[in-house]
Parts: sequence; structure tokens; C-alpha cells
Amino acid sequence: MADLCQPDRVHWCDGSDAENQTLCDLMVKSGTLTRLNETLRPNSYLARSHPSDVARVEDRTFICARTQEEVGPTNHWTEPAAMKQKLLGLFKGCMRGRTMYVIPFAMGPLDSPICKIGIELSDSPYVVVNMRIMTRMGKRVLDKLGADGNFIPCMHSVGAPLAPGQKDVSWPCEPDPKNKYIVHFPDEPSIWSYGSGYGGNALLGKKCLALRIASTVARKEGWLAEHMLILCVTSPEGKKNYIAAAFPSACGKTNLAMMQPTLPGWQVTTLGDDIAWIRVGKDGRLYAVNPETGFFGVAPGTSEDSNPNALKTCARNTIFTNVVLTPDGDVWWEDMGVPPPAKGIDWEGNEWTPSSGRKGSHPNSRFTTPASQCPVIDPDWEKPEGVPLSAILFGGRRPTTIPLVNEAFDWEHGVFMGSACGSETTAAALGQAGVLRRDPFAMLPFCGYNMGDYFAHWLSFAERTDRAKLPKVYFVNWFRKGADGKFLWPGYGKNSRVLKWICERIAGGGKAQKTAIGNLPTPDALDLSGMDMPADAMRALTSVDQEGWGKEIEDVAANYARFGSHLPQALTEQLNELRTRLG
Ligand code: GTP
Ligand code: SPV
Ligand code: MN
Repeated sequence: MADLCQPDRVHWCDGSDAENQTLCDLMVKSGTLTRLNETLRPNSYLARSHPSDVARVEDRTFICARTQEEVGPTNHWTEPAAMKQKLLGLFKGCMRGRTMYVIPFAMGPLDSPICKIGIELSDSPYVVVNMRIMTRMGKRVLDKLGADGNFIPCMHSVGAPLAPGQKDVSWPCEPDPKNKYIVHFPDEPSIWSYGSGYGGNALLGKKCLALRIASTVARKEGWLAEHMLILCVTSPEGKKNYIAAAFPSACGKTNLAMMQPTLPGWQVTTLGDDIAWIRVGKDGRLYAVNPETGFFGVAPGTSEDSNPNALKTCARNTIFTNVVLTPDGDVWWEDMGVPPPAKGIDWEGNEWTPSSGRKGSHPNSRFTTPASQCPVIDPDWEKPEGVPLSAILFGGRRPTTIPLVNEAFDWEHGVFMGSACGSETTAAALGQAGVLRRDPFAMLPFCGYNMGDYFAHWLSFAERTDRAKLPKVYFVNWFRKGADGKFLWPGYGKNSRVLKWICERIAGGGKAQKTAIGNLPTPDALDLSGMDMPADAMRALTSVDQEGWGKEIEDVAANYARFGSHLPQALTEQLNELRTRLG
């Protein structure tokens, strides 16, 4: 690969503090990073990306399986040999003038049987320091690999070679969006990413390996790789329930994973905020493991009110990307819950004032921060076998129709709920935000094979284990809006009210009414103590919107039609039964 990419140097990453410091110093010198105030934000840095390189690029993401049918209608496909030729052309000499970093990384605890090792070759030191936070990275991975271990090759280049003497820019990347490629070869397996240095495009352990490639492996091996947070709810009596939840990008996973309950005596602890690998355990229950070691979280909206635990996690050893730099060398973003600085430097590097009429931080600006620093990290978050799930939640941004919480009748109905998931698009991917789209299981951009087959794989868990041991399934929606355009439900820590009801249901209690769409809480079922919820808002949040569901069914049916013969019969039946129940 060094022969192909022609870097000036090759550096094998050991993951040490000293190496990290050297790279950060190098990036401060090159202008990629700004060191933040050591007293206010110890050992932390700010990066500003190129304005064209701020989010995942879904329309430049490809799954190159043998046939288009294998990847299905929701993925971009190109014939693998042709794509490989294209990539070999792009990577030829692409690291000239730069260093090739060899980044050995593990997804999952190193002592876990589920651990998967990758080696990312990248010309971005920013990728190295982020991968060090997000994954188990460095010498200990090479040691585990030994001389003949298996690993997934991950090629990454920002696509900006330097001519001799050419001055570098602070965020090198390929500015033409049409020339970016995020490519997966599931049959090899391997990953090739060209042209972007941002987030899921470049930190290849995350979406590329732990979701797109892992989902194809999981299907063959009989497990699940999901876009899910993992949390533990502990009741005042000390009863623990582990819950995994799939919401689309920028729809509330990080916030729910580390929420501060507003119910006395209830506690939430965090095991993961983005990815869960789920397997049937020896006792027949589903066990979830977080393969990551850090949070790459959305900055805007993170405040002492909404997510105090995320703020505390980011207090040190954190890389911020595309937020505001304050005059005292700290960071600020919109809805941080503290007054903005009188003037600062915005995410594009320009002078900025709160009255400028522009946002200071990019809507997809993020923090990269170690999970171990989270004040509510669960003691079992690195357990090799994971934690047993009592419930799985699906959700999305739905201003209308979808109730606050809805319980599935059984596993098949739960799989139907996941498959019918829809959400408004967000700034996490390039493209228009706020458009309703179907995002089954919050995996639309991340499922590495035909989504119809993925639905069938989910259904198959009713045969893989005793169905009584499967988690209960719920659909939640924190984003319902009233006629005034304001959220009907206050969300964040108040979502503990919904978690409490789910825990009661798991224990065989909790009041519910059977409706056409599922089991909804009765009007008095949720603990709203200390809240001031208008009765008509609660009614809207916990009742069936007959007209809205009529439209919902037709939209789900239209999406189902895309999968043709790959759509499992059981889901067609679920849809038909729902239609009948609604009348
Ligand atoms: P990815 O990292 O992109 O996968 O996103 P995520 O699912 O972890 O989303 P995150 O928790 O970072 O939330 C994204 C946005 O949703 C933030 O701006 C939050 O303020 C907002 N949000 C999260 N939870 C709630 C909620 O309960 N109610 C409302 N109204 N907004 C919320
Ligand atoms: C998402 O978009 O779902 C993220 C951010 O978690 S990224 O790592 O860029 O994919
Ligand atoms: Mn995500």
C-alpha cells in the first residue's frame, strides 16, 4: 500500500500518550488544531474542517458486493472490480508529501470473543488522534494480532497529495463532492475511503467497519450489528434493566444514553451511545456490547439542562470539531446553556459575534471524548460478553402522528415497528435536513446488505432463541409538535418517565391500553410528578391519530414495495393486520 500511495514516511501508531502529544503538537503547528485553554479545558483541542467536509456523504457511499441485488435498493452499488480499478487510480500517489499512519484498532473489548480488528492506513493525523479516543488503538492490538491474525484492511486518504515544497492547508481534503468515495467490499472484506477527513467518512472503525461490514458478518454468523445506544436503568429498589435504542443520526441517542432522570431515586448509566453488537447469550437472552471506547457526539444543544453528563465528559482530553473558539481559549456552541462570548471565532475561522445573524458552530459540529470519562459510565460497559437486554427501542423525529411511546404486541410486531421507522433528516449527513424519510431500524445509511434480507434476519431471532427471552420492543417519539410548532414533550431527563413505564411493563405491571397500533400507556400510566403537562398535550401524545396513521401505512407500504421478493411475508402480514385493525 505504501508503494501505491507513495507517502514520504510511514509511521506505525503505538497509541501512547507521547505519540498522541507529538501528533497534536504537529497539528497545532500546521493549523489543523488549536490548543484550548489548559485551565478551562485541559489537554483539549479545536479543529475546523473545510466547509465542504462537515458530515457523512451518503450519496458517495458504496457497497460493492458481487451483485446489486445483494446490496438492495437502499445502497449504492458498483461492480467491485470496476470500483477497485477506480480506487487504485485515486490512491496512486495520493499520500505524496505526507505520512502514512498505520493505525491498528480493535472494535470490542480485546478479551472479548466478539472483538474485530482493523488496520486503517491513513494520511490524516486528525484521524489517528480521533481513532485513539474512539477505539482500542495501538501496540496492544498488534500484540493481540500476532504474526498471523486476521484483520480488516481499511484504506483512508484525504485525497490531497502535496507537491515538493507545496504549503499544506489546515484541513486537506478533496473539495469536489463528486470525487469522494466511501467504499465497502463486503466479500473481502475491506474498506476504502477517499477524499474526506470527517467523522464516519474517515474514522473507519465506526460506521464503515462496526456497522456496514459488521452487519454483513453478523448476518452470516447469526448476530446483529446495530445503530443503537445501550443504557442501564436502575429503579429506586435497585432493579436493573438494560435497554438498547436505535434512533437515526442526530435524533437523541447520546442524550438518552447518558440522561439524568428527573424522577427521584431512578438512575441511568451509560454503556454506549451509537453502536451495539448483539448476540444470543448462553442463557438465551440477547446480549449487547458497545464496540467503541469514545463518543463522537453532536455539540449544539448539549447543555447543563439537556445533557449535563456529556458536558462533564468533555471537560478534558477532548477534540472539538467545528464549534466556536472563545476569546479565553475555550469552546462555545448554540444552545450550550451559557451566554455566547461577546465575540469569538466561528467554525469557518472567521470573526463572529452573537448578533452576526450566522450560527457560530456548524449544526453537525461534534466532540470526540473518551467514554471512560463519562460520570455515569456503567461499571459493566467493557464486559466481554455484554449485558442482557430487557427492551429494544426504536424512534425518530416525527412532528406528527407517532405517539410518545408504543409497545409492540410481540417480536414480529416489534420488527415491523423497526422496519417502519421514519424520521426527518438531520445535519449528520450532507443534504437537505428536515425531510421525512423511511429509515428502517435507523440503519438506512449503515446496513451493508439488502435491507429486505436484514428484516428477515431480525425476524429469525424468534427461532434462534426462546421467544419469551427476547426483549420487549417499543417505539418512542420525543419530537411530536403542537399546532404552534413547539415540542409537545419536554424530552431529555423527562424521558425517564417513559423509561419508568417501560420498566414497569417489563416487570408485568404498568397500565396500558391495547390499540390498533400497539399498547399505549393509559392517560394516567406515566409518572408525570413534578411536571406541568397540559392534558390535551398528553392526549395527543398517547392516542391514535386515525388520519395520520392512514397516511403512515401507505408510506410504509410504498417503502416495502422497493424490496420486492426480499420483503419477508411476515411483514406484509403485519402491515395488512395493522390496516385491518385501523379499519
Ligand atoms: P448521532 O451521533 O448522529 O448518531 O446522533 P444521536 O442520535 O446520538 O443524537 P444526539 O443525542 O446527539 O441528539 C441530537 C440532537 O437531538 C441534539 O441537538 C439534541 O439537543 C436533540 N435531542 C436529543 N434528545 C432530545 C429530546 O428528548 N427532545 C428534543 N426535543 N430534542 C432532543
Ligand atoms: C451518525 O451520523 O450517525 C454519527 C456521526 O454517529 S458519524 O460518525 O459521522 O457517522
Ligand atoms: Mn450515529
